[in-house]
Amino acid sequence: MATLLVTGGCGFIGSNFIRDVLANEPDISIVNFDALTYAGNLANLADLESHSRYRFVKGDITDRAAVEKALEGVDGVINFAAESHVDRSILDSGPFLRTNVIGTQILLDVARSQKIKRFVQVSTDEVYGSLGATGLFTEETPLHPNSPYSASKAAADMLVQAYVHTFGMDAVITRCSNNYGPYQFPEKLIPLFITNLMRDQQVPIYGDGQQIRDWIHVRDHGAGILAAWRKGKAGEVYNFGGRCEKANLDLTHLMLDLLGKPRTLIKYVQDRPGHDRRYAIDCTKAERELGWSPQMTFDVGLRETIDWYKANEAWIKNVRSGDYLKYYQQQYGSR
Ligand code: NAD
Ligand code: TYD
Repeated sequence: MATLLVTGGCGFIGSNFIRDVLANEPDISIVNFDALTYAGNLANLADLESHSRYRFVKGDITDRAAVEKALEGVDGVINFAAESHVDRSILDSGPFLRTNVIGTQILLDVARSQKIKRFVQVSTDEVYGSLGATGLFTEETPLHPNSPYSASKAAADMLVQAYVHTFGMDAVITRCSNNYGPYQFPEKLIPLFITNLMRDQQVPIYGDGQQIRDWIHVRDHGAGILAAWRKGKAGEVYNFGGRCEKANLDLTHLMLDLLGKPRTLIKYVQDRPGHDRRYAIDCTKAERELGWSPQMTFDVGLRETIDWYKANEAWIKNVRSGDYLKYYQQQYGSR
C-alpha cells in the first residue's frame, strides 16, 4: 500500500484524480492537503469523505509546520496545489508567487528531509509560451512563460529540476494542456461559458477568438499523472495533451449548438493582456515511456461535461456566489 499526499485535491483536477484513484487503485491511500481557497471545494469529494483509504487535512503548502506534519508516513507527493487562473494572475500576481513558487519550495524541502520516495509536480504547457501557426511543444522546448501564472509555474518547475540536480531527489514533472470536465470552477472558458449559457447570459470572447488551445479531458490528465508516479523516470518531464486543437470561437459555437442557444449571446470583449495565441502538445514521449494515451474523444467529453453541469445546479449556485461575483465584476465589468 502506498500513501500519496495530494495537494490541492479539492480543486478541479485534484478532485477528479482522487475520485479515480480511490475507485480504481486499491493499493493507494490518499491524504488530501488543501487550503480551501476560492477554488477548493469540499463538496467536490463529499461522497468520499468516509472512504477507508481517504483522509482530508486542511492546510496551506506555504505553512512548513503543517506540511511537515501532513507528510508523516507518506510515500509520495502529487503537487496539484496552485493558483491556476491566468486572468487572476493579471489582476494580482502575489498569491501565484506565494503558492506556486514558495509553496512548491517548502514542499520540496520537507519532502527531501522526510525522504519521500517520489515527488510529482503537476505543471502546465503554458510554461513553454506561445506557438505560431505550426509546431508542437515537446519536452525539449525552452521555457518562455508569458503570464504571471505561467511564470510562477515555470519557476516551480525549475526549482524541482534544481532539487533533482543538486540533491538527487526523485521528482518528475508533468506538463499538460487545457483540461475540461466536471467540477471545473466556472472562471475558465468551458465551465464559464456553459454556466452562463445555461442562464441565457452572454459569453465573453477575448479579442478575435482565434486563439487555439489543445483540450484534454481531466480524467485523461489524471491517468497520465498516475502513470508518471508509477512509471516515470526521476528527473524527467512528460507532456500530456488531447490532440484536440480548437480555436476559442469554434469551441464557443459548438457549446452554443449543444445547448441550443443563439450566436447573439457571444460578446466580443477586449483581449487578455499578453494573450498566448496557440498551445499544442506533442505527447509521444508519454505514450512511448509511460504507456499512456488520451482516451476521451472531445465530442463525447464535451457533451458529458455539459450534462454534468446541467445535473449539478446546486453546485453551480454555490460556487457562483461570494468571491466569484466580486471577481466576475472586476474581470468583465471593465471589458
Ligand atoms: P484549481 O484552481 O481548480 O484548484 C487548485 C486547488 O489548490 C484548490 O483546491 C485550492 O484550494 C488549492 N490551493 C491553492 N492554494 C493552496 C495552498 N497554498 N495550499 C494548499 N492548497 C492550495 O486548479 P486545477 O485546474 O485543478 O489545477 C491543478 C493543477 O494543475 C495546478 O497546479 C495547475 O497549474 C495544473 N494545470 C491545470 C490545467 C488546467 O487546464 N486547469 C492544465 C495543466 C496544468
Ligand atoms: P482559460 O480557460 O482561462 O485557460 P488558459 O488561459 O489557461 O488557456 O482560457 C482558455 C482560452 O479562452 C484562452 O485563449 C482565453 C479564452 N477566454 C475567453 O475568450 N473568454 C473568457 O471569458 C475566458 C475565461 C477565456
